[in-house]
Amino acid sequence: MPDQLIVCKGCGFAADEEKRDGETGGAHLLKQLEAKYADWPHKDELTIKTTGCLCICDQPCAIAFVGTGKPTYLFADLDPTTSAADLLTAADLYLDSNDGMVSAYWLPSELQSRRIARIPPAPFGQG
Ligand code: FES
Repeated sequence: MPDQLIVCKGCGFAADEEKRDGETGGAHLLKQLEAKYADWPHKDELTIKTTGCLCICDQPCAIAFVGTGKPTYLFADLDPTTSAADLLTAADLYLDSNDGMVSAYWLPSELQSRRIARIPPAPFGQG
């Protein structure tokens, strides 16, 4: 199963700006991602999915990287107008790592402080 980039379509542009021109920040980010994804060489390895909430609503926009046997990464406080290219760069790193471990130092600089959580894959605590 391909890894996934999950975009929260419910997120605003900022904590105090839910919509701009009738569009949520998450919907705007999704459009930006889809435009770049169309020409992205790793489309077969990672799909873009959406959700209505990632439970970090006070720090929009939020996305998550999810992969089989890999940790889940949650990013928040993303600018929906400028983050798409950096997120696909992060996606490249996630795909390139067999165990999904990606150092914050390898991420584009704008993303380094916006990675909020790394959740280990199940089953956890064996071995
Ligand atoms: S609306 Fe995006 S995290 Fe809740």
